[in-house]
This record gives sequence, C-alpha cells and structure tokens, in this order.
Amino acid sequence: MAQFFPGNTCIYLPQPTWANHEAIFKFVGLEVAWYRYCDPKVSKLDFEGLMDDINKIPEKSIAFFQGCAHNPTGVDPSQEQWCEISQLVKKRQLFPVFDVAYQGFASGDFYNDAFSFRTFLQDGHKVAILQSYSKSMGLYGERTGSCTFIADCKSEADTILTQMEEIIRKTYSSPPIHGSRIVVEILADENLKYMWFQEVKMMSERLKAMRNALKENLEKAGSKHNWDHIVHQIGMFCLSKLTPKQVKKLTDDYHIYLPADGRTSVAGLTTKNVQYVANAIHEVTK
Ligand SMILES: Cc1ncc(COP(=O)(O)O)c(C=O)c1O
Repeated sequence: MAQFFPGNTCIYLPQPTWANHEAIFKFVGLEVAWYRYCDPKVSKLDFEGLMDDINKIPEKSIAFFQGCAHNPTGVDPSQEQWCEISQLVKKRQLFPVFDVAYQGFASGDFYNDAFSFRTFLQDGHKVAILQSYSKSMGLYGERTGSCTFIADCKSEADTILTQMEEIIRKTYSSPPIHGSRIVVEILADENLKYMWFQEVKMMSERLKAMRNALKENLEKAGSKHNWDHIVHQIGMFCLSKLTPKQVKKLTDDYHIYLPADGRTSVAGLTTKNVQYVANAIHEVTK
C-alpha cells in the first residue's frame, strides 16, 4: 500500500488497536491516523464517534478494520453497524483493509465471524483481507496466513500479484511451507474441515466459560466493582479496566503477567487458576 496505493497514503486505525499495527504501518512509510472506536473506560463501541470520524477521512484514503474479536478491546460492531460502516466507507471512497487474526473466536462460527468483510464484498468494495491462522489453527510458530486483494479483472489481479511477489522476494523471499501445507490439508478435506470447525467452536466456548468463571469468582471473592465488561467483551482478550498501578501489583505480588493497559488473555485462564487470578484482582482493586 505504501508503494503503490494511488490515493492518500494515510491509514486510519481504530483507537485503540493492537500496538503493532501502528508500528508496522509507520515502518513501511504510511502515515497513521485514528478514528474513535472504543473508550476502554466504558468498554463500549463508540459507534457515533466512529461514524463521525470516518465521515471526515479524506476521500481515497485507507481505512483499516479488525474483522472480528477486536484486539485489545473485545468489542466489535454489530452486524447492522457493519452494514452502516460499509455504506459510509463507500460514500467516502475509502479503501478498506481487514485484519482477520481471530476468525472463529467471536461467535465460535467461522462464517458468522466473516460477516464484516463479506458485507463489504457484497457491497462491491475492493478490499484487502489479511488473514492469520496463527491462533485459529494453533500455528503461531509457522507464520501462516493469507493476503487477499479483490481486483476488477484478470490483468489487475496479475499486476497486484506481480507487485506482491516483487515485495516478497525483497523481504522474506519465500514463506515457510509446513504451516500452509497443514492448512491446505485441513481445508481441502471435508471431514478434517468439519473437525477443525468443531474444535474452534469448543475453544470459543471455553473462552466464554472462562469469562463467566472470572466474573463469578470476583463476585465470590467479595468484589463490589462492576465486572460485566468481562462477559460482554468477546474473543481472546479482555480489557480489564485495571490501572497500570494495579497491573504492577498483580505482577509483583501475585506473578500474574499482563501489559500495563490491563489487557488480559482469557486464553491463559483455566479452571485451575481462575480462582487465584480472581482473588488477586480483588486484592489489587480493593
Ligand atoms: C489483531 C492482530 N492482527 C495480527 C496479529 C498477528 O498475527 P500473526 O501471528 O499472523 O503475525 C495479531 C497478534 O498476534 C493480532 O492481535
């Protein structure tokens, strides 16, 4: 995008987003700007702010979205809101880019979780979709994902592919092969694909169960704070609303490790440790 995008090479990111987004885009020479997304203190989508800010983005800029299970907020637009966002992006003539790192984590269903970018596709956008299988297939160390561009015609697709190959050759040269062979093996076999969908569903249900258990154990420990956001947020992460000081105390006194912004990995909770974590959170938030 930094080299060939014909419009304004400023990319607009949700505020907040995964910290590496800003780092990556600045590193390749894109300008970075923000649209309102979610106030972590309220833990609710700021839909009005989002629409208002997107409406002000200069035409022919790049609008960046997380396809589902937003990291770090655990807050996604509803299906109706995605439809409205798609229409606005169209009106502003923006180029939408979707980062899809947690497909299946939001609803447990791969097709449901593709609603955002499928809606954009149905609405006739040209989009870029960046998908990762690191989490959904447990292939973190294999660097396996895909990059999809939608083109108008074969010659445009060929041009994009040639440019992509050129960049790849000059950066990582060729991708690791084992992860992608595993993905192909699974997706090309109906039985394996079905088993994988079931496992993703099971994993997503476990995350939901851990959210409930954390909230219940906080209440059992006697916490008087409102922890509803733990169960309302979705996906792998929970923006806990802990302050940097409380996070430091969790780490120093209880050896529970998380970033200073209070983002907790729900995947790290188990039936064996959830009570310990809840008691520790209660102690540091008293
Ligand atoms: C939103 C988001 N996008 C992308 C990634 C990176 O994915 P990959 O493991 O494929 O580099 C992550 C996390 O690791 C993420 O949270």
